[in-house]
Amino acid sequence: MAKYCAVGKRADKDSKEYNICDESRSELLPILEKIQDKRGYISDKDMQQIADRLGIHPVEVYSVVTFYSFLNSEKAGKHTIRVSNCISSVMKGSKRIVREFEKELGINIGETTRDKKITLKEISCIGMCDLAPAVMVDSQLVGRVTTQKVKDIVKELKR
Ligand code: FES
Repeated sequence: MAKYCAVGKRADKDSKEYNICDESRSELLPILEKIQDKRGYISDKDMQQIADRLGIHPVEVYSVVTFYSFLNSEKAGKHTIRVSNCISSVMKGSKRIVREFEKELGINIGETTRDKKITLKEISCIGMCDLAPAVMVDSQLVGRVTTQKVKDIVKELKR
């Protein structure tokens, strides 16, 4: 079966894993999203290979990967909790929510639990200012988070 690239065109037959079709930098983000979906993170080797294929500097790839909070440059846990740290969230107590997650999970922000189940991150915006403090658990948004909700979320994810 023919392979298709990230933007839906027929993939270059030499492009094994990344499914690159026209080697333009506009494919960078879709390629990164695809790798992220497949493996959960984008390795240094991936970044170098993508840069080589697209004819751009690896720093460009790295800067995109590290700019977007939804892309990981390191292996993350099975689940990822992202706590919004926008000004509305901070004013509504997101720092307290972060501390509660850290306590419940036994890790600091930016870390993954020893069993590799849960990664805790901060994120600048999840579009939930009106329901701050808000978190994103994998792809699910949760607003008006309380310390009790933190406990419930962690309990659910640890199952
Ligand atoms: S600015 Fe607050 S969630 Fe986006």
